Amino acid sequence: MKPLRLIPALISFVCGCADGAGGSDDLLFDPLSMPRTPTVGLDSFASADDCGLCHQGHYDEWATSAHAYAMKDPVFRAFVAIRQENYAGKQDKFCLQCHSPIGTRGGDIVAGFEFADLQPITLEGVTCESCHKVASLARPYNSGHVLDPDGPMRGTIAAPIPSSFHESQFSPLHGGSGFCAGCHDLREVSGLVLERPYAEWQQSPAAEIGVQCQDCHMPRYEGQAVPGGPTRTLHRHTWIGAGIPLLEGFLTEDEEAVHRVEVERLLADAARVDIAAPSSVVTGDTLELGITVKNNISAHNFPTGSTFNRQAWVEVVVRDGDGRVVFATGTLDASGEPHGPEPLLLGSVLVDARGQRVLFPWRAAEHLSNAIEPLRERALRLSVATASAGRGPLSVEARVLFRAFSPAALRALGLDEYAARLEVHEVSRDLASVELRRR
Ligand code: HEC
Ligand code: HEC
Ligand code: HEC
Ligand code: HEC
Ligand code: HEC
Repeated sequence: MKPLRLIPALISFVCGCADGAGGSDDLLFDPLSMPRTPTVGLDSFASADDCGLCHQGHYDEWATSAHAYAMKDPVFRAFVAIRQENYAGKQDKFCLQCHSPIGTRGGDIVAGFEFADLQPITLEGVTCESCHKVASLARPYNSGHVLDPDGPMRGTIAAPIPSSFHESQFSPLHGGSGFCAGCHDLREVSGLVLERPYAEWQQSPAAEIGVQCQDCHMPRYEGQAVPGGPTRTLHRHTWIGAGIPLLEGFLTEDEEAVHRVEVERLLADAARVDIAAPSSVVTGDTLELGITVKNNISAHNFPTGSTFNRQAWVEVVVRDGDGRVVFATGTLDASGEPHGPEPLLLGSVLVDARGQRVLFPWRAAEHLSNAIEPLRERALRLSVATASAGRGPLSVEARVLFRAFSPAALRALGLDEYAARLEVHEVSRDLASVELRRR
């Protein structure tokens, strides 16, 4: 992905939702993750409900996670519907191969499928056995996991006690970043790299010292994997990420409140903003500000993953002594999008062959990213005119803000009702005060 300093055309997506980007691609298949004919039987896999009988804690956490949400997600479904239309259903397995590996390999995903017709195990999305029946990894992207439907339950307990329900097997694969790579690194059919947290991690300071995805995204705690079992070091199955699920009813109100706190906690570790400002400025002169954003994550970019969907940006507001705004950038305009003279966008954009911004990855020719590499900084210089300021001192506030989706993107997908549920999270904030002097 090419780096990009400033991303223009914030909200104007070229939609072209109906112009059919192709349609002759019925040969699109992959023997591992998008087979022509089923390679596994859907009934070889147990429902998460069954696992919950003994692993109640793991079940309860998973049920609130993005992995359980992967097939219920209305944004995912809206994208899939448009791709189905664009390719007359002939590429339907592509988007489903990670969101439901069992359903895709088990033959439930056929051209032109409808979500309402899918089997319960397919709708469980990234369910327990799509991870715990993984025997090996064929490639670190695009659903590269090899599933072993009749195999044991694999995990990182070295000497598990016997279970009447399943055989268990120690699997070092499950303890490392490579395990997550199979689904978290994503390339379009065109080869365009869309998501690459694992590739970022491979080059990162975290990888050098052996810090894995699980260390941050599946925090350890002491407990029992089964009632009456030995006390062990267990791993959280909540996979907190970019925000709270937009689908109402997926989480109870209480779960949502807990989730929101966890999201804020994760984001608080993500980045830090600092203001460099002079201690005073002469009224009427230009106030020169240096704004630095540091990615505090040692393992991958900020932001990472689905960066073309996410919004991360810097907001800077300068007020005079009476609280009147003298300068602002990165504040939300009437349509709810960050705007201003120089809004520093930290995410990425997809553009088509003519360089116009597109929403759908399958229309993109290039992926331009402004994300910050692990432990690196991005600097922004701002020149603020002070002529309109009243009395001093000037107060400067800089914030790094994050949002799972742009409201404009949701509206372009016909999901207006969810735009109202989007939440802006403050990742970091810095304040500075500048005295005003008379000439
Ligand atoms: C390689 C596996 C893989 C494939 C193939 C894949 N996805 Fe995903 N998808 C993911 C992962 C992993 C995430 C979470 C990434 C993140 O949050 O940064 C995700 C997240 C998303 C989200 C955001 C969900 C939310 O509510 O936050 C949408 C929408 C989505 N995918 C749509 C699609 C569409 C459309 C396709 C087909 C073009 C597709 N995906 C193909 C793995 C995949
Ligand atoms: C009848 C009870 C029971 C059921 C049902 C059950 N398990 Fe287990 N599971 C166990 C026991 C007992 C252990 C060993 C726990 C220990 O040693 O602390 C275990 C261990 C595991 C491990 C760790 C294996 C390792 O070596 O690291 C995984 C993973 C696992 N189970 C997944 C599942 C999944 C997924 C399901 C549902 C398909 C499931 N279990 C259903 C009883 C059960
Ligand atoms: C040192 C801790 C740490 C490690 C290790 C780590 N992450 Fe993260 N990750 C974070 C933090 C903090 C965030 C929140 C910032 C963000 O969303 O970009 C995050 C966010 C994410 C997100 C959500 C991105 C989004 O905005 O949609 C995904 C997906 C993710 N990480 C995947 C991974 C994968 C895969 C690995 C291993 C290759 C990994 N992470 C390793 C700390 C870590
Ligand atoms: C996205 C993949 C994924 C899904 C889905 C998943 N797990 Fe796990 N699970 C893991 C990984 C990875 C580990 C080991 C983490 C480590 O050692 O760093 C693990 C560990 C476990 C363990 C061993 C004890 C522990 O906490 O380390 C049990 C038991 C378990 N999972 C049960 C379940 C059950 C039950 C479900 C569904 C309700 C489930 N898992 C869903 C990836 C997954
Ligand atoms: C079988 C595929 C698969 C595997 C394996 C997998 N994931 Fe995911 N993951 C997904 C998908 C798909 C999503 C997005 C679902 C949605 O929101 O629509 C996701 C979402 C997430 C999120 C939430 C991101 C957000 O922005 O909210 C985190 C965090 C995450 N995964 C971490 C991990 C880690 C860590 C591992 C490895 C231990 C892992 N995943 C393994 C498919 C997978």
